[in-house]
Amino acid sequence: MPLYDPVQYIDVKRGVFVGLTQDRKPLYISWQQYRSTHCQIPGASGFGKGITLGLLAYQSILAHEAAIMFDPKFDEFLLAVYARAASEMGVPLHVLNLRQGQVAQFNPCAGATGYELEEMLVGAMELFDAGSDADFHRGNDRDAAEHLARLAEENGVWSLPELLVMASKVDAITKQEGFWRKFRHLAGLSAVQTDVDIDLDGIIERGEPIYIVGSTVRDPKVTMLQKLVLVRLIQLIEKRPREKRRPVMLTLDEARHQISNVSLTALGTLRSFSCHVAIAHQSFGDLFENQALSPDAVRGAVIDNTTLKIVYHLKDADLAAALSAASAQIRTFTESVGQINPENPVNERTWQEANIPVIEPGIFMHLPSPIGSDNKLRSATGVAFSDKVATMVSISPVMSDVAPPAVVHRPPTWMQKSSDENTAIARSAFKLEDLI
Ligand SMILES: Nc1ncnc2c1ncn2[C@@H]1O[C@H](COP(=O)(O)OP(=O)(O)OP(=O)(O)O)[C@@H](O)[C@H]1O
Ligand SMILES: [Mg+2]
Repeated sequence: MPLYDPVQYIDVKRGVFVGLTQDRKPLYISWQQYRSTHCQIPGASGFGKGITLGLLAYQSILAHEAAIMFDPKFDEFLLAVYARAASEMGVPLHVLNLRQGQVAQFNPCAGATGYELEEMLVGAMELFDAGSDADFHRGNDRDAAEHLARLAEENGVWSLPELLVMASKVDAITKQEGFWRKFRHLAGLSAVQTDVDIDLDGIIERGEPIYIVGSTVRDPKVTMLQKLVLVRLIQLIEKRPREKRRPVMLTLDEARHQISNVSLTALGTLRSFSCHVAIAHQSFGDLFENQALSPDAVRGAVIDNTTLKIVYHLKDADLAAALSAASAQIRTFTESVGQINPENPVNERTWQEANIPVIEPGIFMHLPSPIGSDNKLRSATGVAFSDKVATMVSISPVMSDVAPPAVVHRPPTWMQKSSDENTAIARSAFKLEDLI
């Protein structure tokens, strides 16, 4: 199908527009359904996952949801769509870039309790028991996280760089080499070299979209920070008093880099806290790359727990088979004719009942690319699963020429204070650079 402007069909009072059907009718799902389940968007590279995430986030923002995006790849089209939606709603878009070499932007631990900080560190470093020999070390590392969280509470110090200076003087922490190495890497990232609190809580409450750029080049330092920020946002989403629970759309793009104990648990709990998650990934392998997780748990969370799916071209037969099985089954009857008995032909015909999937696996593997042989962009073609029978849809991108805001540099307040003031950094005989 050629490109069309999806905005002409968008009508938040009618529901969430999820594309045009084969007879070019707009397909809507109710907000109730959209918010009561998570959404899975699988598909090979370049087939329309980003286009779909943009279409959904655009409508979420228009419907006053708080849209939070974790984008490991940095999809500039998608960022521009967020910018357009934010500008149409007259709300600021907050862009955070966690990559190395970026300016200091925020303190993700601001306002946390000791327990929350401990949970953030354990989640970011994946210090959960995995039933292997390494559990012993992970236990020690968790003790170090707990110790550090207690120190933070006792000293009222919450920024990662200040905690690094403080922890460097505590043997019980530095001697846990695994923890200490990871913590140095985490606290040394340039994006968090500040104690400035950007009030993530208030940002969510006011429904201002947050766009977080992470990393795909398996940069373990940035991935760690990405997980830490995810834990913090989940804590804030779950802590909200019931009457202040604005619906949240949380997006995890390129799930391969984001599937962890934290995100899987979140898929299980967040729905009860008015938060629905959209998760996009390329292949089956993406889901099972994190060896510390049980494949059944991943499958349950990402495939079975997502009633809403928009599936694009798949390269792997395993995922195609799993999704075909998840598409509703239709009952058919097949007739088989045995050897014809000329005396009684009727009795030789038998009817067999069979359940066949609505969408055969091969269909997923032959969905077309939105880029034609002429190199021009058309609508992306996918299969939409909702509470209705799975059906083909064509989705065109929400176009945007709104320039996204730049990342804001927020230097640490200790740079502005005189050295006799009571900050851990000022008191320290260490230079932060030496520790990192
Ligand atoms: N908002 C947009 N405006 C114009 N073109 C777009 C927009 N969003 C995506 N495209 C184009 O549509 C095509 C499909 O892109 P999309 O980002 O949806 O792929 P994807 O499935 O997310 O792939 P990947 O896994 O590589 O991220 C690409 O050629 C992209 O350049
Ligand atoms: Mg993409």
